[in-house]
Amino acid sequence: KRVVVFISGSGSNMMALIAAAKASDYPAEIVGVVSDKADAGGLAKAAAEGIATFAFPRKDYDSKDAHEAAIFSALDTLSPDILCLAGYMRLLTPTFIQRYEGRMLNIHPSLLPLFPGLHTHQRAIDAGMRIAGCTVHFVTEGMDEGPTIGQAAVPILSGDTAESLAARVLTVEHQIYPQALRLFAEGRVTMEGSKAVGAEASA
Ligand code: GRF
Repeated sequence: KRVVVFISGSGSNMMALIAAAKASDYPAEIVGVVSDKADAGGLAKAAAEGIATFAFPRKDYDSKDAHEAAIFSALDTLSPDILCLAGYMRLLTPTFIQRYEGRMLNIHPSLLPLFPGLHTHQRAIDAGMRIAGCTVHFVTEGMDEGPTIGQAAVPILSGDTAESLAARVLTVEHQIYPQALRLFAEGRVTMEGSKAVGAEASA
């Protein structure tokens, strides 16, 4: 399966997917990386891996639709089977989601449905949670609310800051995302209505 990864930042999840895809039995190939930031650190990492990279700075386009049209033109040349959002900090229009719904994954740094949106680690700490984690889910029109494919949990330790917790969660993000992508690329999990049906990924 051909996979295009979307990033806005350092791309550590993207690198985990690139590393996993190097295995000869991995059912997906990362064929491109798209960013909405020309200076996203992950672009240089992907290029160093010989993967095609594309930057579409939002400010270069006079509308969200024009921005997405440029992205669609790049995707048309890449012919992806699957899109993986990995630290992509932009909401997609319904047009975009309808085009890829059921074959577009995202990783969110909380145990959804808890803590959708931003600042998830500080919110978990402030709520007195004793565990935190991450969720790989199908992307649907609502933000961070598509069917869950896999989750991984870590403890929240006394004295944790949002930064120390984020670092601990990232380590399991890098395990769960490649697993979830493998399951989907192998057809072992599918999105059926509001449910992810089939096997589940867990770390
Ligand atoms: C990660 O916490 C991920 O869960 C969220 O963006 C953060 C940065 O990801 N979506 P990355 O290092 O750019 O992959």
